[in-house]
Amino acid sequence: MKSYKQSEPCIVVIFGAAGDLTSRKLIPAMFNLFLDKLLGDKFSIIGIDRVEMNDDAFRSHLRKKNDELSRRGKADTDSWNDFASRVSFVTGDVKNPEIFKNLVSFLNDNDKKWGTVSDKIFYLAVPPSMIKPITTGIGEAHLVDDREHNRIVVEKPFGHDLDSAKELNNFLKNIFSEPQIYRIDHYLGKETVQNILAFRFANSLFEPIWNRRYIDHVQITVAEDIGIEHRGGYYENAGALRDMVQNHLLQLLCLIAMEAPVSYKADEIRNKKVDVLRAIRPIPADQAYLYAVRGQYNTGWIKGERVRAYRQEDDVRRDSNTETFAAVKFFVDNWRWQDVPFYIRTGKRLHARVSDVIINFKPVPHQSFPSAMMMQPEPNRIVIRIQPDESILMRFHAKHPGETMRLNPVYMKFSYEEAFKVATPEAYETLLHDIMLADFTQFMRGDQLEIAWEIITPILDFWQSVPPTDFPNYDAGSWGPDSSEILIAQDGRAWALSSSHQEENKFMVEW
Ligand code: BG6
Repeated sequence: MKSYKQSEPCIVVIFGAAGDLTSRKLIPAMFNLFLDKLLGDKFSIIGIDRVEMNDDAFRSHLRKKNDELSRRGKADTDSWNDFASRVSFVTGDVKNPEIFKNLVSFLNDNDKKWGTVSDKIFYLAVPPSMIKPITTGIGEAHLVDDREHNRIVVEKPFGHDLDSAKELNNFLKNIFSEPQIYRIDHYLGKETVQNILAFRFANSLFEPIWNRRYIDHVQITVAEDIGIEHRGGYYENAGALRDMVQNHLLQLLCLIAMEAPVSYKADEIRNKKVDVLRAIRPIPADQAYLYAVRGQYNTGWIKGERVRAYRQEDDVRRDSNTETFAAVKFFVDNWRWQDVPFYIRTGKRLHARVSDVIINFKPVPHQSFPSAMMMQPEPNRIVIRIQPDESILMRFHAKHPGETMRLNPVYMKFSYEEAFKVATPEAYETLLHDIMLADFTQFMRGDQLEIAWEIITPILDFWQSVPPTDFPNYDAGSWGPDSSEILIAQDGRAWALSSSHQEENKFMVEW
């Protein structure tokens, strides 16, 4: 279980160290942990990649990116130099067993120098095709035999569908034990996502009404205004369902729908999440069209700039049918949630970057106030704003000031920034620190991941067998295709997000 302690003596070996993930996310995160004194004195990083580079070139490349991207901005030179002195680079091809032999002797020598058995974290910041060669090399070099100290970190995509995910799980389990495998879903490292458990289970206020008796439906939106950036090659074979729904959105759904854990222990929490995934009503492939809709962006305007259509992006086929938007209606078949719809949607090049979980309550059972007094009758709502403007909002009715009785919906807002006055750490900081502390609470267990694939595979199959006829079907800068509005409108409901921004600003009551 997590605590705010320093890591034990630790070496992080990054495979794919010259790639984007290392410089954009991993190094800024580790540097921030270093600045926060969460890394012990005995800490170092070895980057491995095929490109020719020496330590100095590697360090200055990392510093440049860190200065551009770190939440703390430009690094102070002394602190950076102190940190960078622990970072080194090795050029090598992971298909050559020599590299693992050299790694073994380096790690052994280093442990002798430190006078301890350090933790070794092997971070695979590499494309999926490299996972097997690297883990095989690690296994053959006996770098995993020490199950207490040695761990492996695997990034998504973890498989491409149910079969490939199962195959990869089995492959890794032949080399590592399950507690040694850290499958990253970076959403689980976000403060606001972790706070969902605190909000639900550290308060007595919400849990009694957190069920089908009071909740009408749940909406989860993860909207991005960016396109696919420079990742056309990857995205063409992924699409929104694989890229976002199979992992991030289903994880959010689990946190909203799970039962209270008996304790804050990794497997206890993961078991409760697995229970939710198991309870999700299967969507048969031949009925997928009733529950899931897809979209692809056309040209449009984002923040005053004209942007390209998906089919015009680099490394994208001009007649591509890859979806950049997906919306799905799920049901969780259990006592708590029977027949409460969970509408989820995600897309690229949408109107705004915003991720919200919105819990929509049922209307009051009896309306005591005449309709003339209700200026805008709106049921209660809790909005968990994951990002940006990390906050939780609650909508209720209040009397409008004045001599007559008039009711208005108002919002109370808890803002992280205002309440805690500290900068929120990046998801990767939290997750890397957890890995160092061997806390796997916020990581995907093998069975969890497979069930998530099982849930979306029929939709993927259906989409593959029936190509879309209307792509591109939404303008960049909009809230997605009409079919997404229809998916929810046919149940007599509407997506809340686009209007709630305006409402909040009108009726905000701070607390
Ligand atoms: C990644 C997806 O997992 O999450 C990206 O591959 C997406 O396509 C990103 O842009 C979103 O993460 P965040 O933290 O910016 O919401």
